[in-house]
This record gives sequence, structure tokens and C-alpha cells, in this order.
Amino acid sequence: MKSDQDLDISEALDALQDWTQPALDGEVLICECFCVSVNDIRSTCPEGLDLDLLAQRFGFGTGCMTCLKDLPKWKSLVFEIK
Ligand code: FES
Repeated sequence: MKSDQDLDISEALDALQDWTQPALDGEVLICECFCVSVNDIRSTCPEGLDLDLLAQRFGFGTGCMTCLKDLPKWKSLVFEIK
């Protein structure tokens, strides 16, 4: 038998599964060294993230590399996961 606390936790977990993070605004800079925005990435990589292409076109990731280190944080916000 489940306690009230177990039920509360179960409801919270269900709510979290329905929660999705909003996509990033297109003007947000992902690579600040080379001013590469979310829109730049989306328009350059319509089929999915291509870091080599972004590096060739903008220099993306060839400066301080913070944008590459933060890839796990922003990738799913730039490209909607379906
Ligand atoms: S933020 Fe992308 S190279 Fe520095």
C-alpha cells in the first residue's frame, strides 16, 4: 500500500515527465567568441548539428571552446527533440 508521500512523489514524477524546456530564442548567442546565434546554427544545420560546418563557416568552437564544453546544455534547446 502506498503512503500519501509516495503518491505525492508519483504525481510529481508524472508532472516532470510532461514538462518540456522551451526552445531558446533565435537571437541567443551560443558561441560568444564568434557571435554565432541559435538562428545561425539552425539555418546552417537544418538536418542536425554539424560542428565541422559551423567551425568552417563561423569559426565556431575555435576560440575559448566554452560553447563546445556547454554543448550538452544547449543542444536540445536549439534542436527540438521529438
Ligand atoms: S564561445 Fe565558442 S569559441 Fe568561445
